Amino acid sequence: MIRILLSGSNGKMGKVICNSVSNFPELEIVAGIDRNTACDKFPVYCSPENCEAEIDVIVDFSRPDALDGLLELAKLNKTPVIFCTTGYTKEQLEKMKEASREIPVFRSANMSIGINVVNSVLRNISAFLYSNYDIEIIEKHHNQKVDAPSGTAILLADTIRDSIPEETEYTYGRVGNSKREHKEIGIHAIRGGAIVGDHEVIFAGQGEVIEIKHSAISREVFAVGALKACEFMFGKGPGLYNMDDVIAEN
Ligand SMILES: NC(=O)c1ccc[n+]([C@@H]2O[C@H](COP(=O)([O-])OP(=O)(O)OC[C@H]3O[C@@H](n4cnc5c(N)ncnc54)[C@H](O)[C@@H]3O)[C@@H](O)[C@H]2O)c1
Repeated sequence: MIRILLSGSNGKMGKVICNSVSNFPELEIVAGIDRNTACDKFPVYCSPENCEAEIDVIVDFSRPDALDGLLELAKLNKTPVIFCTTGYTKEQLEKMKEASREIPVFRSANMSIGINVVNSVLRNISAFLYSNYDIEIIEKHHNQKVDAPSGTAILLADTIRDSIPEETEYTYGRVGNSKREHKEIGIHAIRGGAIVGDHEVIFAGQGEVIEIKHSAISREVFAVGALKACEFMFGKGPGLYNMDDVIAEN
């Protein structure tokens, strides 16, 4: 059995993971960390320092401020840690990278297989299309989401930017009276209702428009991706891993 510590266990994603884990016979959630410690399935600790459980993997769907404590806990026994939370600062991402020299660290702003396939399509087509098409990204999420734009929109934008040799620049939520410059990659966030997560990348040319769209219909896709990442990360050595590594192994 692979014993999981679930950070953010009382949140929306935490609860979906608790339901989905029964489809993974090798995995068991043995403890949680959450500000809300109510749970009748396993012990939930209010912070990583209090965690007494024996664990093999840590999965986090909480808030960026949980990062330091989780890294410290992971370092104690070189436990692989999977960060699915979004909204990290550049400094926090750098901390993860630094820690990955010592422990196995996985990070992905989107755990769905579909988005990661879209991401690899973008890697292949963006440089070719860029000279004749303007690129804009629109993301839509539920009204409880705190970070904007979404981590996934940033993931897709970074992939596009990194595959185009020319210099580009992000324009967030366009307002004002000036014309669009070609080097801009527009990123727009919409918040409302219960939308699980939509991402659309638009390549707008003079005579045609290409739209690549992904809709998450249920949070289960993220839970399944995170649980697959648990299986993947078990027993891994230090390094920085992401969803591409999981897809490549499956
Ligand atoms: N990578 C992905 O595929 C993916 C998918 C969905 C959500 N997310 C991200 O996961 C995070 C959680 O999403 P959610 O919808 O479950 O949110 P949520 O608000 O429903 O749940 C967050 C949970 O974390 C707890 N929490 C907050 N701060 C904490 C801390 N410092 N330590 C421990 N627990 C803490 C809260 O009490 C809550 O129970 C968000 O950042 C979200 O954007 C990522």
